[in-house]
Amino acid sequence: MVIKKICCIGAGYVGGPTCSVMALKCPDIEITVVDLSKERISQWNSNDKLPIYEPGLMEIVQKCRGRNLFFSNDIVSAIKKADLIFISVNTPTKTFGLGKGRAADLKYVEGAARMIAENAEGSKIVVEKSTVPVKAAESIMSILKANNKPNSSYRILSNPEFLAEGTAVEDLINADRVLIGGEESAEGQDAIRELSWVYEHWIPSSKIVTMNTWSSELSKLAANAFLAQRISSINALSAVCESTGADVSEVARAIGLDSRIGPKFLQASVGFGGSCFQKDILNLVYICECLNLPHVAAYWQQVIDMNEYQKTRFAEKVIASLFNTVTGKQIALLGFAFKKNTGDTRESPAIHVATHLLAEGAHLHIYDPKVEHSQIIDELNSSTLDPDKIKRNVIIHTDAYSAIKNTHALVICTEWDEFVSLDYEKIHSDMMKPAYIFDGRKILDHDYLQKLGFQVQTIGKRLNRDLGRSWGSQNHQS
Ligand code: UDX
Ligand code: ADP
Repeated sequence: MVIKKICCIGAGYVGGPTCSVMALKCPDIEITVVDLSKERISQWNSNDKLPIYEPGLMEIVQKCRGRNLFFSNDIVSAIKKADLIFISVNTPTKTFGLGKGRAADLKYVEGAARMIAENAEGSKIVVEKSTVPVKAAESIMSILKANNKPNSSYRILSNPEFLAEGTAVEDLINADRVLIGGEESAEGQDAIRELSWVYEHWIPSSKIVTMNTWSSELSKLAANAFLAQRISSINALSAVCESTGADVSEVARAIGLDSRIGPKFLQASVGFGGSCFQKDILNLVYICECLNLPHVAAYWQQVIDMNEYQKTRFAEKVIASLFNTVTGKQIALLGFAFKKNTGDTRESPAIHVATHLLAEGAHLHIYDPKVEHSQIIDELNSSTLDPDKIKRNVIIHTDAYSAIKNTHALVICTEWDEFVSLDYEKIHSDMMKPAYIFDGRKILDHDYLQKLGFQVQTIGKRLNRDLGRSWGSQNHQS
């Protein structure tokens, strides 16, 4: 079978960019991205603003949309005509019931599988793109088989996505590797070849790695667990640096020069965020517990615990430095997205820092160049804080200078480039004195800021004019 039509169920952070790049690189394939949400689809069809911000994405969508790329709410028709169907729906952590707070909630995957089973006719390749627990393909197959129409047949593949937000287009075009897992049967191998052919439109075949389904599913969880583990490892060392006078950037450089370790993902920070790392590790931990592997589960859980510790340590450092009280103090929080070049706030460390400071009575002035104001308020409202307190004590600003004016402290939570080139001389004169900067991303020139008169604190380095206290030192219990 030659794949001529593709349907992607789920027009989110994964489905949207993946199919846009695929449409760009495969003009001979018609790709329809479908979603339950009318709003999301109409945003994908708009020329002003896509539902997600990714550098370079709008240009690709505008080039392909209406040619071989379509966004639609007509899920049934798209399923019926497709040769290959990607399942690219959300798999959040369960919030109730068995596995609450850890297991992945597969209700959306199941919903998509049921829609396929009810509507598909003929032979289809069904591809799980969403990150799922190991053996999820088996569950999808059970649903498809149990509802099998007489004239339909399925082959299931696992094809996890490794794009990172903010660099999605680049990651998709120049992927390190494409992973395809399938059954060892002849039909399974045929399906792998057919999907490989799609990617070979732009990915060298040497970078297309094939394996069995379970290895593919586990590899995705493992890759995210390893990446997050590196961040927690360097963040753990950042606490040691603050207590000893070592500089975590120097340590990261020194260890990163070892070719076995490598320099990437060693940037100490306020903590990692995003929709994947925490969710996938929790999922891995849950799987290990279910497999009666408590030691393995505890090992990976520690990566999450260290991240929580780091976020709390940073927030407590702000409070301790501001004379142990932020009640009634004005604090500017710059950056709310979980990293730069995205408007995504899922699991953003900024949420943790903001709620911590608000709980202590601070007044927050928040600015992020890409996050919608309503989204910031929604994130804060999902915390345990009283919504009235949020209404009273939070102001969202449309530029950094207005957010910072007349504040006691400036806290950087996201590494947006524009924060590096702000006029800090002007900012210093506009702030209350002593003026504090807490650089949670290590992006600023700390020596220069100190010369301007700022009290500066950052991660993994004790600065000259530091108050001599290491973050959350002796009295902090994680
Ligand atoms: C991640 C994986 O990188 C990607 O392969 C997978 O498909 C999805 O999950 P993403 O969450 O979009 O991608 O962004 P990533 O660049 O990995 O950053 C995650 C978090 O770690 C961010 O909050 C980032 O600021 C933080 N981070 C990253 C650090 O704190 N230090 C680093 O050195 C790198
Ligand atoms: P991800 O980051 O994994 O792409 P998102 O939450 O950004 O996750 O996107 C997932 C999308 O999948 C959402 O837009 C949601 O509306 C959509 N979705 C969930 N279930 C279904 C379904 N059964 N059919 C169509 N779309 C679905």
